[in-house]
Amino acid sequence: MIEITTLSELTIDGKLALHRSSSSKELFDYSTDELKAWFHGQRARADAIMVGANTVRVDDPSLTVRYVAGPNPLRVIPSSDGLLPLTSALLNDGGPTLVATASRASAQTVAALKAKPNVEVVVCGNGEVDLPALMDLLAARGLKTLIVEGGSTLLSSLFGQDLVAKIIIKHIPIISGDPQAPTYLTLNPRPGLSLGVSRWRMTEWFVKGGIGVSIYVREAAR
Ligand SMILES: NC(=O)c1ccc[n+]([C@@H]2O[C@H](COP(=O)([O-])OP(=O)(O)OC[C@H]3O[C@@H](n4cnc5c(N)ncnc54)[C@H](OP(=O)(O)O)[C@@H]3O)[C@@H](O)[C@H]2O)c1
Repeated sequence: MIEITTLSELTIDGKLALHRSSSSKELFDYSTDELKAWFHGQRARADAIMVGANTVRVDDPSLTVRYVAGPNPLRVIPSSDGLLPLTSALLNDGGPTLVATASRASAQTVAALKAKPNVEVVVCGNGEVDLPALMDLLAARGLKTLIVEGGSTLLSSLFGQDLVAKIIIKHIPIISGDPQAPTYLTLNPRPGLSLGVSRWRMTEWFVKGGIGVSIYVREAAR
């Protein structure tokens, strides 16, 4: 079994980005170098790192380890149709990336992804990516820890399937004020998935570079 930790930056009003289609990199820029180094240290300790396909489309992240020395985790991107921008940084920098699609991804799309340097494509699910099956696949390859950085839709699916063991939240001291900005969970809830009450226990709370960080672990279901 692979251990999943979510790592998110949240505004005071619970948003993952300042506006509906704006990059979360704007929130990252509020961090001090000390906090950026801590944040990237979390990446360096993980075997793999995942964001949803929309985060790739909106943020164009590299998902590499910077600000601190350490190995880059394997990048894992669930995209049911595989339609990621072919100019995306993570498809072109030569680092290892695994794109998980569902069977509806066209052969042409899969071929275009596979033509990218060090990009692997696996089919995992029919209508959309089957996240538990993807986790089994990663575990079978010997990966033990996965960091998931968002966004809202992917996080909702993971929480909805009770796959998350640990939550890390960076509390960015800013209010977005935009009702359309993505909230922490359920931007585009997946059919049939509902988020019930779940219990979490805070294990750490600290302020680094003026920003609060809270860490929770999953309590056993009651
Ligand atoms: N503050 C932070 O820490 C943080 C971190 C990351 C992102 N963000 C922000 O979050 C926003 C993007 O969030 P989002 O909710 O639009 O998108 P998202 O969660 O990044 O990506 C969702 C997409 O992932 C693909 N997917 C495949 N299988 C899935 C499954 N089983 N469950 C869920 N998704 C699946 C789908 O795309 P396909 O159509 O390709 O299948 C789906 O539309 C951006 O504004 C970004 O800046 C913030």
